[in-house]
Amino acid sequence: MPHSPTPRLIYLDHAATTAADPLVIDAVAESMRTNPANPSAAYSLAGNARKAMRLARQTLSRMIGCDHNELFFTSGGTEANNWSFCGLENRHVILSAIEHSSVLEAARNHHCEITLIKPDAEGIIHPETVENAIRPDTAMISVQFANNETGALQPVEQIGSLARKRKILFHCDAVQAVGHVPVNVRKNAIDLLSASAHKLYGPRGIGFLYIRSGVRLPPLLSGGGQENGRRSGTENIPAIEGFRIAAELAMADMETRATKEKQLLQLLMETICMAIPHARFLSRNALRTPGVCAVLLPGLSSETAIAKLDLCGILVSGGAACAAASASPSHVYTAMGLSAEEAACVLRFSVGRHTTEEEIRIAAAEIIRIYKENTCG
Ligand SMILES: Cc1ncc(COP(=O)(O)O)c(C=O)c1O
Repeated sequence: MPHSPTPRLIYLDHAATTAADPLVIDAVAESMRTNPANPSAAYSLAGNARKAMRLARQTLSRMIGCDHNELFFTSGGTEANNWSFCGLENRHVILSAIEHSSVLEAARNHHCEITLIKPDAEGIIHPETVENAIRPDTAMISVQFANNETGALQPVEQIGSLARKRKILFHCDAVQAVGHVPVNVRKNAIDLLSASAHKLYGPRGIGFLYIRSGVRLPPLLSGGGQENGRRSGTENIPAIEGFRIAAELAMADMETRATKEKQLLQLLMETICMAIPHARFLSRNALRTPGVCAVLLPGLSSETAIAKLDLCGILVSGGAACAAASASPSHVYTAMGLSAEEAACVLRFSVGRHTTEEEIRIAAAEIIRIYKENTCG
C-alpha cells in the first residue's frame, strides 16, 4: 500500500491530507534537480522555471475554468482564505457558520462585521437565508464549495448568482472540492476561490487563490513583485510543478475515482448501520463530495474510537484535522444542531484513490467491535 503514510496502515483520513502521488514526488524531485534557477533571473536557465510556472498556471486554471492570469500561487488554502479578506476591515461580510477556521478567523482578524449563516440539519446553507442576510453595505459573501467535516456540497451556483446580481463579492473556499468534483468559477459566479494541492495528492505548502479579473484585492505580500505584484516572494517551483502533475492526475480519474469512493462509503455506511442501529450518518441526504462521510456513534467518544482504531492501524478523525487538538466540539457539527456531547461522538471517514474494499470491510468490523466493547450497544 505505497500511498499510505506508513505501510500496513488503513488510511481513512484523506480529507486531512493525501499522500503525494509517486508521479508528483518524481516531478518535485526532478524540478529540484534540474530546474534550480530563480524564475526572476535574467539568464536563459531561468526561462525553464518560468515555463514550468506557465504550464502549471495553464493546467490549474483549466481545472477551475478561469484565465491563467487570474490564478495566484499561495502557500495553501489557509493563506488563500486569509488573503481574500484583505481590505475588508470593518466591512459587513456574510459567512456560513460551517466555514473552515481559516475563513472564520480571517474575517475576525480583519475586524469584519460578520453575519453567520447556519446550515440546516443536513449541513446545507440555503441561498434564501444568505439572501435575507444581505444589507446595502455587504461587501462579501463567503460560502465553501464542500464541507471538510461532512463532505456536504453547498449550492454555490445559486449563492454566486445572487451575489453577482447585487454586485457583492463571492469568495468560495473550494479546498475540499477542487480535484474531487467539477469546479467552474464562471458557471458559479465566483470572484475569489481558494484551493490547496495537498488535498489532491499534491505537495503540502502550495495552493492558489483565483482572483477574478477586475476584482481589486490588495497585494498580500510586498517585496520583489512576484505574482504580478500581488504576492511577493521567490516562487516554489518544485511544489508548483508537483501541483500541476497532481491536477492532471485528478482531472484524468475524477469520475472513476468518484464512483469508486462513493461505493466504498456506501459499503461502510451499510455495514455500520446494520450492526449499530443508533448510528447516524450526517448529511446523508445531501449531495456530498464522493470520498467524505461522518457518522455519529452515540455513547462512543471520537477520542476513544480514534485511539482504539489507531491501535489497529486504522486512521480516521473526529472532524477537521486542524481542530483535533482542541477540546471544544466541532463548530460544524454543533451548527448542524448536534449537542456538544453528540458532536464529541462523530467520526469522519475519508477514502481516497487507493482505498480498497478489503480495507473498508476491516475498518467497519473494527468500528463495530470497538462500539460494542465500549457502549451498552
Ligand atoms: C475547507 C478547508 N479550507 C482550508 C483548509 C486549509 O488548507 P491548507 O491546509 O492548505 O492551509 C482546509 C484544510 O484542512 C480545508 O479543509
